[in-house]
Amino acid sequence: MMAHHPETALSRNETMGLLTLVIACAAVLANTFQGDGEPLIASLALSGIAFGATYALIRWLGPTFIRSGLKGVDMSKHHRRELPECMGAICAVVYLLVVIIFVPFPFYKDIVAATSGGGNRDVVLQVDHVSQGRFLHRFPHGKLASYLSAIISLQSIAILGIGDDLFDIRWRHKFFIPAFASIPLLVVYFVDFGVTSIVIPIPLQPFLGELFNLGALYYVYMAAIAIFSPNSINILAGINGIEVTQSIVIALLLAFNDALYLLTPYPHPATDSHLFSLYFLLPFLGVSFALLHYNWYPARVFVGDTYCYFAGMVFATVAILGHFSKTLILLLLPQGFNFIYSTPQLFGLVPCPRHRLPRFNARTGLMEPSVTEWTADRQPRAPIAWGLRLLHRLRLLRVTLDSEGRFIETSNFTIINLWLVWRGPLREDRLATEITAMQVAVGMLGLFARHKLALLIFKEDNLGL
Ligand code: UD1
Ligand code: MG
Repeated sequence: MMAHHPETALSRNETMGLLTLVIACAAVLANTFQGDGEPLIASLALSGIAFGATYALIRWLGPTFIRSGLKGVDMSKHHRRELPECMGAICAVVYLLVVIIFVPFPFYKDIVAATSGGGNRDVVLQVDHVSQGRFLHRFPHGKLASYLSAIISLQSIAILGIGDDLFDIRWRHKFFIPAFASIPLLVVYFVDFGVTSIVIPIPLQPFLGELFNLGALYYVYMAAIAIFSPNSINILAGINGIEVTQSIVIALLLAFNDALYLLTPYPHPATDSHLFSLYFLLPFLGVSFALLHYNWYPARVFVGDTYCYFAGMVFATVAILGHFSKTLILLLLPQGFNFIYSTPQLFGLVPCPRHRLPRFNARTGLMEPSVTEWTADRQPRAPIAWGLRLLHRLRLLRVTLDSEGRFIETSNFTIINLWLVWRGPLREDRLATEITAMQVAVGMLGLFARHKLALLIFKEDNLGL
């Protein structure tokens, strides 16, 4: 009996806590069937249940994953223990079940009105299409299409992620796959929204006009976001907790931004998009907090590429269907910096080892920048050597040269290593906390700029406060 294994069994306190949470959430959920269905409350309740389910399932299934070969060594600990890998798969499955169960809720009102149940007869009997019998022609099929396309995209990305965790797909092979996963989103966007023009900042308007139509390029741009978001989260990784905390920060800031639109004094035209976004972000936060509980330092499980891809795709989905991709880009600035900073290694100008995570110094117990080593007969070519020295002078890289000016080692090109170059050796949890705090600060500045400075370069902020 797996569940009674000492390491996998939940403690009495945990069981009581989780049971209380799940029962309370189920009661709230049942209550939403009165009145208009209150989908936002239902979504919150389902997110609580998602937290509880993920919390318990990760504990119960961890050893099963290890036995199936889904395991990884924590490279930054004295005891190089094997931990369950790919726990993001559990998050993805719980998440998908929850959003699928949620599908009827936002349509409850429409369904009740259309089938003339639930005391809404008056509304319905005024409609003159009695011959149609059931008034489903009034049903918002477009909204339903958005939901279903989002679910298809997220399922596709979960399959890709699990495949990658099982078979370690080559980087250049898996890079573009999120673009395929985004096709259902783009089709729905085309049918429903179809807006392919961007607002031009005032200083440029004399040259380009007020709106600039990107046409088909707009779809390329959205596909690029779907590629960038998952991959950029996956490569800002390698220390306990960081994949999950960065995703939680982005989700929280996006949800905060959504809430702003719901709190405007009058109904905002974008209310529906932002409600939609919340319906997909809240359950994501539910499963992510449960995962963080196990993945934070000292990690008891790894999240796997499944989690990183899935998280990135949740963000791309809400941003594309909600038409706020620029806001998402603002919140992905640290990931964007890390991505651009990584390009010398991603494009092979500088050798890229399989792992670039910081080096654990077993003597001090602290993390130090990991390095790429150069030998006397393998030195960077002249232009690259020049670039490396320049980065060193700008304090954007640590370079060690021998007495004759030959390269001995260069720190790896990730923001995590760069942080250690700046801050000196740090303990792993301290490092994760600092990077997360930096991300919160950048994200809040980004949102502030989005809503306040937008007024300076655009005629109006579309929040319209
Ligand atoms: C990406 C990074 C790689 C980094 C790795 C760490 C690029 C191009 N790729 O590769 O440099 O080393 O993520 O996740 O930047 N691990 C730990 N501690 C942690 C997290 C992970 O030791 O806190 C190790 C474990 O052995 C785990 C493995 O990293 O099994 C997971 O690596 P994986 O996610 O498969 O690497 P990639 O995403 O391919
Ligand atoms: Mg990874």
